[in-house]
Formats: sequence, C-alpha cells, structure tokens
Amino acid sequence: MSAVAATFWPRPSWTAALAGLQDLDLQWNVPLARHTTFRLGAPVTCLAQPRSITALQALIRRLVQEGIPYFLLGAGSNLLAADEPWDGVAIQLGQCCGEIRLNPPDHGTEMQRLEVGAGVNLARLLRFSLKHGLAGFEPLVGIPGTVGGAVVMNAGTGGGGITDVLDAITIMEVTGELREIPKSRLDIGYRSVTLPKHSLILEADFSVVSIDPRQLRTKMQATMKHRRQTQPLGWPSAGCIFKNPPGHSAGALIERAGLKGLRSGDAEISTKHGNWIVNLGHASARDVLTLVRIAEERVFKEFGIRLEREIRVLGG
Ligand code: EPU
Repeated sequence: MSAVAATFWPRPSWTAALAGLQDLDLQWNVPLARHTTFRLGAPVTCLAQPRSITALQALIRRLVQEGIPYFLLGAGSNLLAADEPWDGVAIQLGQCCGEIRLNPPDHGTEMQRLEVGAGVNLARLLRFSLKHGLAGFEPLVGIPGTVGGAVVMNAGTGGGGITDVLDAITIMEVTGELREIPKSRLDIGYRSVTLPKHSLILEADFSVVSIDPRQLRTKMQATMKHRRQTQPLGWPSAGCIFKNPPGHSAGALIERAGLKGLRSGDAEISTKHGNWIVNLGHASARDVLTLVRIAEERVFKEFGIRLEREIRVLGG
C-alpha cells in the first residue's frame, strides 16, 4: 500500500463525524476525474450531496466544528483537480437546490421572476427557457456548469452574461443563516461576483421577459455554431483557461506567442483556440499546469501582459 493509500479513506474520524447527519448522501474516495469536464483529477476523500437545505446547514456546521476542509464542486467545469488525492469533502447542491420556479408576471409588467436553485445545470436552465420562451440566457448556450457556479464567476460571452438578467441571490452564511442579496448590493466584475466570505449561493432569481421560442432557438443555434467553429468542444477541457486581459484576447496572445498545438504529455494547447487546453486522453493536472505556466511566461515575455487564470486549481 502506498503512503497515501495507507492514510486514505474512509477516515474513521470523519465517518463518525458525519454519520449522524440526516438527509445526506455520502460517497467515499471519489475520483474527481469523474466529476470534472477536464476528465482528470485524483480522488476526493468524500463527496456529499445533501437532500435539503436543513441537511446542508447541518453538514456545514459539522464540517466547520470538526475542522474538515470542504469545497463546492458544482459541475466541475471550471476546475483543475490535482493528481494527488484531496483530503476533504466536496459538496454538490443538485439535490437540495435543484428546482426551477417560474412566477407569473406582476400586474402591469412583462417581467417574470424565475427562481433557480444553485445546483441546477445550465443546460437544463437553457432547455427550460426555450420551452417557456424566456429571453436572456441564450448567450450561455453550450457552457457547462451549474447556475450557482455560473453566477459566482459571472459566466458569459461577448453577447452577454448571466448577471445581465440577475435580480437577486440567496446565500447561506457559514453560520447556516440564509440571506437574500439584491443585485444592486453585489460586487460584480469581469468573470467574478464577490460574495461574503465563506458563503454559498443557494438560489439565483432572475427577471426575464418573454420571447418567441422560434426566435430564441435561432439565436441559440447561431451561438452554438460559432462556438463549434471556434472552440474545441469535442475534447475534455475546462473552457477558457485565462480571463481576457483588458483590451486583449488571451487566445490571440497565446496564438501570437506561437503556442497553439504545444503539448505536455496528453495535454495540448488547442490548435483551434489558444485559450483552451484539451485533454487528449490521459493528461495529468501536472501536464496542464506545465502548459498554463509556459503560456503565462511566454505571453509576459513577448507582450508584457500578465495572464490571469479563470480556472480554479484544487490542491497540487
Ligand atoms: N482569437 C485568435 N486566436 C485564438 C483564439 C481567438 O486570434 O486562438 C481571436 C478571435 O479571432 C477573435 C478574438 O480572439 O477575434 C476573440 O475570440 P473569441 O470570439 O473566441 O472569444 P474569446 O474572447 O476568446 C470569450 C469567452 C468564452 C466564450 C466566447 C464566446 C472569456 C475569457 N472567454 O472567448 O468563454 O465562449 O467569448 O465567443 O471571456 C469561458 O469563459 O470558459 C469561455 C469559453
């Protein structure tokens, strides 16, 4: 048995700490490769899926009390998980925050309020908006992720982003207290929304107007066509690796630095889009990070521009 495996899971102290909690699905020793769009990453000690908000509150309280590290996994679409096991608890909100509720418009207004759980998949939200003819989410078509993850990173494209139609979010503080924050009180930046420290988004509420579903379908198809032409969608990846520096395209800078097609192991800077790294089969996180660092160094050397990472790196 390797040193890591010897101290590996399930950890008796953690199983005991989490054992009494109700309404909670736990899986031990879960490879993150199965839960990330990059399709790579070593196991996490525990994957927890609370079935209610009460169960989520109890879980966080217990993890904080016991000093057990945790993070919100979402759809794993913007995450580079390390090659070494991560000793902590990954939490997914699909079960406790997985509802979409559409409220009829208030009298005298066309605005409809859409309440969406943070664990809802973006693809499901897009299908819902198409079915009900709701405008505003179409720039997000084809972007993998959960609604909570998309709000936190203010996901979007040149055509617009999720916070354009956002009205308010409901967060859970680390104490378990729930709080609604209107959009006007949020600090919204390029690819980021700043939340109170250690809080989690449970729900996002949107104000949306109606649109002819046929018009919506046409817009979505055009966006997808552009994405298929310009992005390597057929390969496992985490989407764009870097934020676009002000006034520049990270992809264009990486291309001009001559790095498209560069490989490290089974990771490759996409030949189609310089800001994407694809997993050609058995890439490791180390392979990806090697390319990330080369891109950072070369772009700085050639253009004096520091690329800022958009992906989150876990462990390693
Ligand atoms: N370009 C190049 N070479 C490349 C890539 C791009 O010259 O290798 C040029 C393009 O020709 C274009 C410009 O750079 O003139 C911008 O490229 P693109 O339209 O592909 O958009 P982007 O800025 O690279 C952004 C988002 C994407 C989103 C697309 C939708 C960021 C960091 N990226 O990419 O979001 O899908 O717009 O067009 O804001 C993501 O965040 O993960 C993501 C994929």
